[in-house]
Parts: sequence; C-alpha cells; structure tokens
Amino acid sequence: MTNARCILVILIALSAVPSFAAQSDQSIGGLKTEYRYDPLGLDVAKPRFSWQMHLRTRGAGQSAYQIRVALDADALSGAQSLVWDSGKIDSRQSIFVGYAGPALQSRTRYFWQVRVWDEHGSDLGWSRVANWEMGLLSPADWSADWVSPAAHEGGESRASPMLRRDFDLGGHIARARVYATSHGLYEMFINGHRVGDELMTPGWTSYNRRLQYQTYDVTGLLKTGRNAMGAVLGDGWYRGVIGFAGAHDRYGSRLALLCQLEVTYEDGHREIIGSDARWKTLPGPILNSQLYDGESYDARLERAGWNAAGYGDAGWSPVEVLAASKEALIASEGPAVRRINELVPIKIFTSPSGDRVVDLGQNMVGWARLKVKGPAGTVVTLRHAEVLDRSGNVYTDNLRSAKSIVRYTLSGKGTEIFEPHFTYQGFRFIAVSGYPGKLARDSITGITLHSDMAVTGAFATSKPLIDQLQHNIRWGQKGNLFDVPTDCPQRDERLGWTGDAQVFAPTAAFNMDVDGFFSKWLKDLAADQLENGSIPFVVPDVLSSGDRPIGGAAGWGDAATVIPWELYLAYGDKRVLEDQYVSMRRWVDYEQSRAGADEIWDGDTHFGDWLDFFSIGTGSSFGSTSTDLIATAYFAHSTDILRRSALILGKDKDAARYGDSLGKIKTAFQRRFIAADGTVGAGTQTAYVLALDFDLVPDELRAAAAQKLAADVRVRGHLTTGFLGTPKLLSVLTRFGYTDEAYLLLNREQFPSWLYPVKQGATTIWERWDGIKPDGTFQAKGMNSFNHYAYGAVGNWMYQTIGGINIDPSAPGYEHFLIQVQPGGGFTHARAEHDSPYGAIRTDWILKDGRMILNVVIPANSGATLRVPRAQIADMTESGRPIRLGNGIAGVRQETEDVVLEVAAGEYSFRYPYSPAHSPP
Ligand code: BGC
Repeated sequence: MTNARCILVILIALSAVPSFAAQSDQSIGGLKTEYRYDPLGLDVAKPRFSWQMHLRTRGAGQSAYQIRVALDADALSGAQSLVWDSGKIDSRQSIFVGYAGPALQSRTRYFWQVRVWDEHGSDLGWSRVANWEMGLLSPADWSADWVSPAAHEGGESRASPMLRRDFDLGGHIARARVYATSHGLYEMFINGHRVGDELMTPGWTSYNRRLQYQTYDVTGLLKTGRNAMGAVLGDGWYRGVIGFAGAHDRYGSRLALLCQLEVTYEDGHREIIGSDARWKTLPGPILNSQLYDGESYDARLERAGWNAAGYGDAGWSPVEVLAASKEALIASEGPAVRRINELVPIKIFTSPSGDRVVDLGQNMVGWARLKVKGPAGTVVTLRHAEVLDRSGNVYTDNLRSAKSIVRYTLSGKGTEIFEPHFTYQGFRFIAVSGYPGKLARDSITGITLHSDMAVTGAFATSKPLIDQLQHNIRWGQKGNLFDVPTDCPQRDERLGWTGDAQVFAPTAAFNMDVDGFFSKWLKDLAADQLENGSIPFVVPDVLSSGDRPIGGAAGWGDAATVIPWELYLAYGDKRVLEDQYVSMRRWVDYEQSRAGADEIWDGDTHFGDWLDFFSIGTGSSFGSTSTDLIATAYFAHSTDILRRSALILGKDKDAARYGDSLGKIKTAFQRRFIAADGTVGAGTQTAYVLALDFDLVPDELRAAAAQKLAADVRVRGHLTTGFLGTPKLLSVLTRFGYTDEAYLLLNREQFPSWLYPVKQGATTIWERWDGIKPDGTFQAKGMNSFNHYAYGAVGNWMYQTIGGINIDPSAPGYEHFLIQVQPGGGFTHARAEHDSPYGAIRTDWILKDGRMILNVVIPANSGATLRVPRAQIADMTESGRPIRLGNGIAGVRQETEDVVLEVAAGEYSFRYPYSPAHSPP
C-alpha cells in the first residue's frame, strides 16, 4: 500500500460523518469514457471509464464500484442483456477503470453506468447513463473511395475545390453517421448545413502513419427522398506551405476526400453512401488559403445551393478516384479545434501611417469575422499584427514570410458575413483597407480558435500584475495548443517544437485538461521518432527529410520521456506510460549511444539554454550554459523517468538496468561538472537549476550548490536563464529554502523578468525577455514572437507555491496531494483552483491584521497532506473549533514552524495568528 493509500484508509475509518441516503444518483458525475464525455467514434480496444463523487461531505470516498455496459440504455437494468458487468469490485479506483468485456464492435454505441459504495459501504445507487460509440475499427470497414479533383484542375491555382453529390434515401431514418477525413483540410456539408463544429479537420498528425477521421451524428440533417452531401478542401498542413523553408507538399501534392455516410433505417437495414466516382467537383470561392499567408475569397464565385439537393452540377467535373491507402486511418484522438471566444474591438483608430486599425485588446489566435455591406467586387483587406511599433503603426516584420492577410471580395448581396476557412492568425491588431462605409465596432470580431479543452485552473491574487501574468500564460496556452502544441501562432513556423512543449506541459495541465491533447501528440512523436531512436525537433516532423533526419537536441528530445511522465503525475494516466514506453526507452538508448562509455553526452550540437539572458545581443541564441552539461543532465533525467516508469509498469528488469545506468551517469556528471565546493559547471543559474532539480548533486553538496544559486540571484537581482533553466528556477529555489529569492524574481518589474513584458502591456507570454526593449524598439525580427508559451512555465510554480497545490507522485492524478501555500513576496491573498480527476481542489488564503485565514476544498475520494505555514496547533481553529482528530482530520503534528495535517475530502477553514518570516533585505 502506498503511503497515500494507507492514509486514506485511516481517513475513511476515522471519518465521523454518518452515512447519507443511498440511491442519490446525483452524487456520481463527470462520467468520462477515455478523455471525453459520451464520445462518438472511438477506436480504443479497451476504453477506460472515469467518474467523480460530487459530495462535499467530510471524508466522502468510495469503497467499491460496479460498472455495467449494455447496447441500449433501457437494457442496463436487465442483467440478461448486458454486454459487460464488472460485478462489485472493492476498490477506491474511480479514474481510468478499464473495460474488460467482450471485444467491441465497429459503429456500435454502448451505454454504461457506474454504481458506487461510499466509505461506509453504503450504496449510492447507479449514476446517470453515459455512452460512447465505436468508430470504424478496420480498414475493411471503409467502402468509400478516396476522391480527388482531377490533377489538372485549376492548373497552378490553389483554389479550394468543392465536391458534391446528390443521393436518395428511401425509408425512415433511425440514425446516420458520417465518417470523414481528407488529404488536406475539409469542411463537410449535408443538405446545405455544415456538419459538426470542428475546424481544421482532420487535425494534424504524422499523416503518412496516422491519419484521423472524424465521426459525426448527422441523423437530424437527412430526410427521406433526395439529399446532398458536399465538401470543401484546403491545403492545410498536408500540402500547404509548412515549415520555415517555405516548402509545400510535405505529405503529398493531391487534395483528396474520404467520407462515408452510413444510414440505418428503422427496419434495421443499413445503407452506405461514400465518396466515389459519382462525386463532382469545381473550384470554389476560396481562391487560396494557406496557414501562414491567410486567405483570399471571392464571394462573387459562390454557387448558391451547391451543397443542397437538386443543384444543377452539370458543368462540374468528375472527381478522380485515387488509390490512396486506408491503412493509416485512426479515430480522432485529441480534442477538436473549435471557435472558443469572441472578442469585440476595444478601439478603432487611424495609425500615423494612415491605416485604419482595429484593436481587439488581446493578442489572440484564430481569425476575424468580417461584417460588411457594399458593391460587388469591393475588396476588403485585413492585415494582422501582434503589436504596434514605437510610432503606433502595425508591426509585421516579426511574422517573417507569413503574410497573414485575409482578402474578401464582396458579392454585393446585402450584408455579408465572412470567416476564413483553412488558415489562422496570431494577432491583436488588424489594419483594414478597402472597407466600404464606416468601420464600426461590429464590423470586425475576433474569433479565438484552439483545441477545445476543459478549463481546469483558476488563479487570482492580491497583485494585479501577477494576475495579468497568469492571464498571459493562459492566453499563451490558448493560442498554442492548436491541435498540436506549437511554439508560436503567428510567424512562418507554428510547429510542434518538442522543447517548448516539454517545459510548458506541467503548467498546461494546471490550466486545462490536456491529457487527451498531449497523448494524441505523443503518439505522433513516437510515430515520427527517427530510426536511431532520436526525436525530431518538431512533431509532426516537417523538418527532416528522408536522407536528412533532424533531431536529437537535449531538452527537446526529452519531451519523449518528460511529457508522458507529467501526464501520469497530473492525471494518473498509466496508459500513457504504457503506450509511450517503447518510445521513451528508444530515446534514452539514443542518449546513451551519444554519451558512450564515459556517460557524458558531449560534442553534439544542441539548442542549449535557448535565448538565455547572456545570449541577448550576442547574435547567438544558444545560451551560456555548457551544452555538454545540459545534455548529460537531461540524459540522467530521462533515464530516471524511464526507470520510474518501468517500476510502475512492472518492468523490473528495465528498472534495475536503467537504475544502474542512472547511478553511473550521476557519478560521471558529478566528476565532470561539480566542483568540490558545490559549484556546478561555470556557475550559471541554469547549471544549478538542472543539477539540483534532477538530483544530480551529491547530498553533501546540495546545500552549498543551492546557496550559490540563491547568492547569484541576490547579487544580480534577476534571472539569467533561457528556455531550459527558467521553467524550474523558482521551484528549485523554493525546494531548497530560498522562497524569498523566488518571490524576488517573480516580483521584479524591470527587464529581464516575467513582469517586464506585463508592464509593457503584454497580453501573452513573449518569446524573448526583451521582445520590446525598454526604449520601445524591437528585438531582431528573425525571432521575436509575442506569443510563445515557454517562459509561461512559471505558472506551475505559481499554482504550487502561491496557490499551494502540489502533486503527490506516490498517488498521481491527485488521488492524494499536498497543500502547501507559501506566502511571501508581499502577497496578502491568493486563491487557486484546479479541477482534478477527482473533482475541484481549492485553496484560498487571506492575511489580514496579523491573522491567516486558509480555506481548502478537497474533492471526494481523495485526500491531502496539508502544511499550514507558521502556525502552532494550539493557536489554530478549524471551522471555529480547536484542532482535533476526527471529522476528516486524521493526523496533526507540529513540524518546526508549521502544522501538518492529514485531511480527507471536504471543505475546511483554518484561522490562526500569523506573523510573516523576516525576509532578508
Ligand atoms: C522556435 C522555438 C524552438 C527553437 C529551437 C525556434 O525557432 O520558435 O520555440 O524551440 O526554435 O531552437
């Protein structure tokens, strides 16, 4: 039994709360199948079920569960017709319980519910009925053909083709599904209606190995008699320009559609209408749409009714059937990209250079919705920019070759509303030209797009600048979790840079439910892993070419180990470790092969501590910390993660082997990089941070090394770190007792610091500490993104230290966790929330008149160790009463200045006299 489990068993025994009425199905909720609620189109052979107990009662927890699965909701209560019944299982497990019934069938919808017995053994009754539907599980399920506009269609034109077909349905329709995917991007229509609300489908994966299809319920769109289906295709990642070399056709040169409408009639028979030689095609009004460059659309070319039944398509060309493979098809895995928010302009002004400029008040990612009325043929041009220059003009040099221009040609038919289709931009400002009439606040609306993930974090404090920093971190995440985790959303890049994703993942997991998002991307990482085990710089890999694989950078390739591990910690998702294990091991073996017998990974070129403080103005971006040190440190770290994962997965031999290897790497690291007085490498902050964070410093030198790091911070008064050092700088300071120094860095407002951009008006995280310099000029245009989430990785420390919410690695997924708020830095209040797999965790503290009020919420079926800072047991009250065991409190002890309690689920309110520690000047 883990410590956490042991504590929880005690908690359950101690809980003094009487049993509440059974049969209240309201108390069980949050029923997820895999990563989603009631998903449509799953191809996981053994889906996992998760639920939450929505109870606030002290000590509420689960002692047993039972799951039942049936083919229809009514059949659930009749034992005869069940597909699977787990029987009553005495277990606290309430997340990721695996289905263990007979093999699941293509196209079939399954209904499930769970029954829970509480900590007293009382039956809480059955939950509501949830469901999921399997997709098409085998290539043989696809009878449709890949169809493409004829090769010569449009010549050099990049106009988006429309594809269509009319068909008849006889009989009463019981249900209908569309399964669809494409080479390129697609939008589907049935009888004139857009199918689904997903955008940029089929998403971005390692297309040649993994191509997602989407499943839609279209029952309501069809009718008996004549119907029509249509699709529009765009270049997207498949054959549009992607990667900073300006190349297109990365995955192929032909756009194509594969779709299958499956109609089930009330009498049970099924009819399939798929893409085939009967479809017809014509270039549409989208003249060109590229991810980086934007879109040109001529509304005069719209064909009214083209996607509705009965449209005369006599002049359209036949499609060409392609012999493309269906082997790589997989059900959609990650959350879809959707429209998420709408932003209304805060200002419309004329810039000094004469542009009419719309300011949306927020650096955002997505596109603009245009509302316009005017004569046919009028062209409205929207130029997107993240910032204004010193004189107040829109600045686009940092977009490099990305044009980010949307051009709309009016049809002249009344009020026209337009949104682009197969492009997106990162911007706050739009320079509008050609707009007929007066540009008003409702002429332009910012539509944010990103992967549709549940928001799971909230964070607010007594300091507005810090709250703005948190806002910027969140918006950096919104803009860059765009089907894949991207470095930036605006310039000619927008790629799945592994290093950036790796450092930001823990923060991302506080803010939003990213388990499904990253686990999808990790499969692409494994799919694109290079032959020698190295990891490409970006995933999906669009930088390598067959004879020139590119990858293997320390701190970047380690995304292969770090992200699965972070998902395991944050979500208790063991299957991610299982699924990624081979990839993780191959990466570590690759590192070993580069390091060789002396265990020092030296000599290779890496990105190093990318863009650190010392690199500013040097013309080099690689940072000042030795890349040999960084590479060897990450080699040790990944080996350690692999060793831990092997233990969790019961791979004891591997655990022993990599444990042994870790010992050797540490010894080698210490010999090479740690001096007798505890100096690490050349004494840069990043050298200390990595060595201490990865436990590479010998025990006897740790205090000395940490002291040197803290001294450097104090003497300089600022950080000197880049992409790899920054994310862990504050947590290492805090871990070794230098929380005051951590606050000093967090609170600093001058360059270099997190708050410097905030003071400059930033609404997202910048790529560089001085993207806009104190004199108002810009950093070099070649690399100056104003929406790059990497430095936002400090969000993790903010949740952990100010908000006090910490993962317990021995009980991942917040089955048990640690609450340790560490007031300091002049904060008088903070409130943090995290919607964990077990339910909402909340901390809320206020320091006022020498008293501390600390409120915490612990979700049902979990528990926490709570460290109350600078408190004495005798002086404390909880909900107005002196502290005593029982009623959810299972343990209390004084540990020097703090009181440590073991607490079960419930809401608690602590009060006590508090005097801040004396912090060094
Ligand atoms: C990207 C980074 C990335 C880096 C690697 C840049 O162009 O924007 O965020 O990690 O290259 O060196």
